[in-house]
Amino acid sequence: MSDPPGRRAPFEPYKTKVVERIPNPSREEREHALERAHYNLFNLKSDEVRIDLLTDSGTGAMSDRQWAALMLGDESYAGSRNFAHFEETVRSLTGFPHIVPAHQGRAAENLLFSTLCRPGSVVPNNMHFDTTQAHVRHQGGTPVNLAVPEAYDPESAFPFKGNVDLVALEELLGEAGPGTVPLVMVTITNNTGGGQPVSLQNLREVARIAAAHQVPVYLDMCRWAENAFFVREREPGMGGKTIPEIGRAFFDLAAGATMSAKKDGLVNIGGFVATRDERLAERLKEALILYEGFPTYGGLARRDLEAISVGLLEATELDYLEHRVAQVRYLADLLEASGVPFFHPVGGHGVYLDVHRFLPHLGDDDLPGQALVVELYREGGVRAVEVGSLMFGTDPGRASRTLELVRLAIPRRVYSASHLEYVADVVGRVHARRASVRGLRMVYRPERLPHFTARFAPK
Ligand code: F0G
Repeated sequence: MSDPPGRRAPFEPYKTKVVERIPNPSREEREHALERAHYNLFNLKSDEVRIDLLTDSGTGAMSDRQWAALMLGDESYAGSRNFAHFEETVRSLTGFPHIVPAHQGRAAENLLFSTLCRPGSVVPNNMHFDTTQAHVRHQGGTPVNLAVPEAYDPESAFPFKGNVDLVALEELLGEAGPGTVPLVMVTITNNTGGGQPVSLQNLREVARIAAAHQVPVYLDMCRWAENAFFVREREPGMGGKTIPEIGRAFFDLAAGATMSAKKDGLVNIGGFVATRDERLAERLKEALILYEGFPTYGGLARRDLEAISVGLLEATELDYLEHRVAQVRYLADLLEASGVPFFHPVGGHGVYLDVHRFLPHLGDDDLPGQALVVELYREGGVRAVEVGSLMFGTDPGRASRTLELVRLAIPRRVYSASHLEYVADVVGRVHARRASVRGLRMVYRPERLPHFTARFAPK
């Protein structure tokens, strides 16, 4: 359970063996960097960033056991031992029989959606992540977000804000023509909506409704271990279960999953698609050979598969997960103490600032989320990311309800409590002078996934 506010720094269940120096750009250097980057923090050099909370994806620290696993790389093109171990590990965790490796989550999405979707397809999800949404659209399909109404209220304390709105799902499936919905996706945890968990009870209902319409359920399982941690903490009757047991209860309800191992696989690159459907697996492998590589390496060095096999299990260890969630809560408590508004309750992989309440003087066309991200960098070299109307456009399915958030994502096993205290100070200072924060305008907008490469200028 969560400790009361004012708790001490969370105990790190690991010690340091290798260190990496942290850059310390001056205020002048940061101003220059912002200009050069066209106010898009994806254009910064990492040496210009003091604390990098852009993403928790592929930015974690591997353990000594994972580094040792790399030395066991069997770099055979076909039939590598590392693939056999990887396949066995994913099978034993998930129960899915067919495992197709891919170099990261969006490659897994490409394989699944290019195989299952066609023009006119409709894909419901609690909330699509940016690449998931883009892949559905790339196939000519329509992504629809169906999270519960609480998911759109930053102040609601509802414990499972990742849940699917079951009435809306029933309606969508009832109204869709035959063959229109190739799959229902459920993202655990819901990254777009604040890293929020989905309850087992909710997934059971989703599975029941989808089965009645003969539509398979796939999980976007990037942060499945964090989701299982919250289920263990919050869902009645789940407190005595292990993370793998809870995970298995989720997987048993699904037809398959896509995974970015850059999150709860604790590696810097890797992913997979898993499925129970043998025929589909064959088609996925055909696409895999075209885009990624042979089915026993899937666009990865074989040693990377070995590191994933170790990381997937380490991510289920309770002391690791307790510390991970405690870090997020520690940062949130520090922010709360200085009156900074953020999305409640805090989720598994970061604190999401509530932009509307942080910068009430800015309108939608001031790009307030991006303006805040720029200001956090300007103030203290902290790199965060906008998760709102810039990243997603208008929320598909609930047009009037786009969340405007700025995510402070915490990389796994990387930063210490003092780093989080520094971040809280920087955010607190920007909050104290929030009235001085100016809006931005977009001077270049790419067609797809605009936040990565758009350019901005101060208003
Ligand atoms: N699904 C979810 C829920 C994600 O959060 C991500 C990536 C992906 C799919 C795609 O995985 O990056 O390995 O291709 N999220 C990262 C983030 C990028 O910053 O949240 P990928």
